[in-house]
Amino acid sequence: MTTTLPLQHSLPLASPLVYGCMGLGGSWDANEALSEADIDHAQAAVEAALEIGITLFDHADIYRHGKAEASFGALLKRQPSLRDRMLLQSKCGIRFADAAGPKRYDLSAGHIERSVEASLRRLGTEQIDLLLLHRPDPLMEPVEVAEAFARLRAAGKVRLLGVSNMQAAQMQWLASALDAPLVANQLELSLAKLDAFEAGTCFNDPQAPAHPASLAWAGTLEHCQRAGIQIQAWAPLAQGIFSGKAPADAPAHVTCTAALVQQLAETHRAPPESVVLAWLMRHPARIQPVIGSANPARIRACGAAAQVRLSREEWFDLYVAARGAELP
Ligand SMILES: NC(=O)c1ccc[n+]([C@@H]2O[C@H](COP(=O)([O-])OP(=O)(O)OC[C@H]3O[C@@H](n4cnc5c(N)ncnc54)[C@H](OP(=O)(O)O)[C@@H]3O)[C@@H](O)[C@H]2O)c1
Repeated sequence: MTTTLPLQHSLPLASPLVYGCMGLGGSWDANEALSEADIDHAQAAVEAALEIGITLFDHADIYRHGKAEASFGALLKRQPSLRDRMLLQSKCGIRFADAAGPKRYDLSAGHIERSVEASLRRLGTEQIDLLLLHRPDPLMEPVEVAEAFARLRAAGKVRLLGVSNMQAAQMQWLASALDAPLVANQLELSLAKLDAFEAGTCFNDPQAPAHPASLAWAGTLEHCQRAGIQIQAWAPLAQGIFSGKAPADAPAHVTCTAALVQQLAETHRAPPESVVLAWLMRHPARIQPVIGSANPARIRACGAAAQVRLSREEWFDLYVAARGAELP
């Protein structure tokens, strides 16, 4: 008899890949206005993403100081029918330094609600399909978050709630106050960021004491799978270091991993980007990579990832190469 895991509290239109919009909207200079060229740039990227079947678009209130959402909103104004072909996800909870204080995290009800209102205005839409809490806030009060989300949902401004960069215990603490499930957790996961994979498996490892940070992630992937929380991977391409952009002074394990990616790309007759993403997607959690390229050709290259099925041995070859040492 097979055990049925809880259904992913699914986003019905969600695709295997997510498009990350952090690269849209021009410079990170808050004083520089959005230009027509920025909107054209967003249009080319969004069209390439839709072409490869992406339906979920990831934003945050802070990306390019709001200009990523604003460029997307301007594109939706140019082509209103695009909105029906996509789900919009945005995040709140990080505040840049301002007159009131230093760079800080803020999951207070007031900040969450103000941030959502501002994102809706910039995106020019009535509803955010999925709102993610961008980072854990040490002053988070789960009841306050739950009340803010309930008001936003009742007003039709947000449909679903998720988190980002949260560990299992933080999600459980938050979920204890919510009357709706958390549906996603967006984590930094890639061949360059192995913490969550290492945490559960690499005990008895002479190297482990050098990597205590990874231990904090123990149980996070398992908790998400058990609770039906979709795991999204941010920076899944690791800025291209394994698929053509390794720096000249890259450490040996990066160069070796890049060579292996190239070899697997030839074996699978697929672009190297798709192999890097397929490594994440091979995980039983069906991790959704959030790709941040704004280059249409590279976006299309990522589209092949769903067709690349790595064998168990290929997966471990890449894992071992990327960690730079054999498994204990
Ligand atoms: N939740 C969080 O805390 C968090 C944090 C950061 C990001 N995010 C989300 O995750 C998304 C992806 O993150 P990301 O953009 O940092 O990471 P990424 O997808 O791993 O990398 C994209 C970047 O790498 C470059 N790149 C990739 N392959 C390349 C190659 N072969 N040669 C040259 N350049 C290459 C891209 O340049 P081109 O544009 O030229 O292709 C782009 O600048 C973001 O858009 C955002 O939505 C979330």
